[in-house]
Amino acid sequence: MTTTPVQINQKTVNVQATPDTPLLWVLRGELKMTGTKFGCGMALCGACTVHIDGQATRSCITPLAAVQQRLVSTIEGLQGREITALRAAWTELDVVQCGYCQSGQLMSAAALLKAHPQPTDAQIEEAMNGNLCRCGTYPRIRAAITLAGKKLLTPS
Ligand code: FES
Ligand code: FES
Repeated sequence: MTTTPVQINQKTVNVQATPDTPLLWVLRGELKMTGTKFGCGMALCGACTVHIDGQATRSCITPLAAVQQRLVSTIEGLQGREITALRAAWTELDVVQCGYCQSGQLMSAAALLKAHPQPTDAQIEEAMNGNLCRCGTYPRIRAAITLAGKKLLTPS
């Protein structure tokens, strides 16, 4: 067991875990940040998506050692116009069903809007196709991302 300092949601936290511990276990087990979900554990579902240096990343296959000196953001701490617009659009279009996949969906969508503020349907498809939803909310997710892009055109 070693102590690893990690920047999570604008704070430095000292994590007690072996370097190969998946970031997802650190978030949920050690830090009790349960907004990031466990689905498959094999980078196949997107439920565990966080941002590392602004990039949507699967935390279930990311070892703790890989996030030293990097900036980690989770659904609990993500800030900015993109996530604000997405949350508003998610509410407006009543996207959520059971909710289990939704933090991962939002993290992937926020990274997409940062790169492409008004994404095309193809860009949405490419960015979101690794995020599964067993409730089948895909049409509402994609409509909400487009709506959020329109909201970003309005000066805040
Ligand atoms: S839990 Fe990480 S991609 Fe499924
Ligand atoms: S809302 Fe239920 S899994 Fe996506």
